[in-house]
Amino acid sequence: MADTVIRNATIIDGTGAQRFTGDVTIEDGHINEVGSSSGAAAVEVDATGLVLAPGFVDVHTHDDGALLQHPDMAFKISQGCTSVVVGNCGFSAIPAVHGDNTLDLSGVQANWSDLDGYRQNVENSGPALNAMMLVGHNTIRSMEMGTERRAPTDRELERMQQHVELAMEQGACGFSTGLIYRPGRWADTEEVLELAKIVAPFDGIYATHMRNENDYLLEAVDEALEIGAKAGVAVQISHHKAAGKRNWGKVEESLAKVDAAVAEGAKVTLDVYPYTAGSGPMVQYFDIDNPNPELAQAIQLASCPAFRHYEGRMLVDIAAELGITAPEAVRHILTAPDGKKTICIQHVMDEGDIVSNLRHDRVMIGSDGIPDLTGRPHPRLFGTFPRVLGRYVREQGILDLESAVRRMTSLSCDVHGLSGRGRITEGNWADLVLFDPDVVVDVASYEDPKRESLGIRNVWVNGDLAFDNGVHTQVGSGKVLRYREH
Ligand code: ZN
Ligand code: CU
Repeated sequence: MADTVIRNATIIDGTGAQRFTGDVTIEDGHINEVGSSSGAAAVEVDATGLVLAPGFVDVHTHDDGALLQHPDMAFKISQGCTSVVVGNCGFSAIPAVHGDNTLDLSGVQANWSDLDGYRQNVENSGPALNAMMLVGHNTIRSMEMGTERRAPTDRELERMQQHVELAMEQGACGFSTGLIYRPGRWADTEEVLELAKIVAPFDGIYATHMRNENDYLLEAVDEALEIGAKAGVAVQISHHKAAGKRNWGKVEESLAKVDAAVAEGAKVTLDVYPYTAGSGPMVQYFDIDNPNPELAQAIQLASCPAFRHYEGRMLVDIAAELGITAPEAVRHILTAPDGKKTICIQHVMDEGDIVSNLRHDRVMIGSDGIPDLTGRPHPRLFGTFPRVLGRYVREQGILDLESAVRRMTSLSCDVHGLSGRGRITEGNWADLVLFDPDVVVDVASYEDPKRESLGIRNVWVNGDLAFDNGVHTQVGSGKVLRYREH
C-alpha cells in the first residue's frame, strides 16, 4: 500500500508540458505512480481544483546558517519550496574553521570545517527542506588572504583551489563569486578564472554576483561569459538586474548578450527575484569615508542591531529627523557598535526589467532572501515564489503557469544538479507542492515582511508532509544533497 495518494490533482509536471488531471502516489519517499490510482493508501488527499507541482527550488539563497538556526525553514516551506541552493554571492558556510564564526552571511559558529561536516550538522538538526551547496569565493579568499587588496601568491591561489576542489569532491554543485563585495572585488578576472577551472572536471557551475549591476552591467556580463568560456564551465548569472534609473532597460541588452553566447554554444542561465529593491549588508554598499549620496536616497533599513527603531524606515526620513544629510546618516549607522551588521534594502530597480527577466526562458526564480528574522527583512524572503505565481502569472499574464513552474523546478534542478527532483515522474523523489492557482499570492510587504503567503496547501519533502494547510509539521526530512546524485 502506498503511503500517500493525492487524487484528482491538476498536475503540472515541471517540464513545461501542459497540465493534466490525475493521481500521484508516494511510497518510500518517492513518486510511485502518476496517472490513475485505484489502490488504497495510508493517507488520501483530495486535490480537486488544486495544482500539484514539483516542490519549488530556490536557486539563490543565503540559507546556509538558517538551516541550523531555523530548521523549520518556515519562510521557504510556506512558499512551496522543497530545496534551496546555498553559498551564493561568494559567501558560503564552507570552508570554515571549527569553533569560529562562518564567513557566510549568517556568521553562525561552525562545528565543521568542510561540506561533509556541514552536511552532518545540518542533517542532525532535521531541516524541513533540502539544500545544495556552492562554495564561495569571498569565504575562501577571506580565509586564505584576509582583507588583502592584491592578487594571491601562487601558494595562496593553490590553497584556494584546494578548497574548491574539496567542496566539489564532497558534493557541491559549483563555485560562486560576489565580485561587488569585499574581498571578492579585489580579485581580477584571472584569479576567478583559475578557481572556476577547478570546477570543470566535475562539470559544475560558476554562479556569479557580477562585478557590476549598474553602469557597467554589460561589461560585467562579458567578464562572466569570458570566465565560463575559458574555464569550460556553465555560467549562472545571479539576480539579474540593472540598478540605477539611468540603467533601467539594460536587462534586455544583457539578455541579448546571453542569447548570443548560448547560440555559440555557451551554457548560460540566470535567476531573478520579482521585486524592484535589492538587499544586503549595508557596509558592503558604501564607502564609509564618502557614502554615495544617490544610493543613500534609496535606502531602507531591514535589520539594524545598533538602532532597532530604524528598522523598516527610509534612511532619508531618519536623516531628516536627526537634522543631518543622508550620507551622514549612513556614517552614523555604520560607525555605531554593531553598525556593520546592518542589512539594508535598496530601492533601485525597474519593474520593466523584472518583466523582461520573467519572460526569458533561461531565467529561474531565486529569492536572494537574507534570513535575518530579527528585523524587517526584504519581503522576498517570504514572498518570492507565490508572488511570481499570483502577481505575474495570474494577475498580469506575463508568463503561463507551466513555464513559471518549469523555471522553479526542472530547469533549476538540471542546472544545479538536483538529480531525481524537479519533475513529477515515477521514481523521482517526492518533493511536491499542492496549491490553489486562483488564490496563491504573496502577502509579505516592505512594511510587514514576515507574513506567510496565501494559497499554498501542502508541501512534501522526500515523501514526508512538511506543510499541512498552514501548519509546519516539523517532520524535518530534508537533506544536504550531493551534486548529480539521485
Ligand atoms: Zn548577490
Ligand atoms: Cu545573493
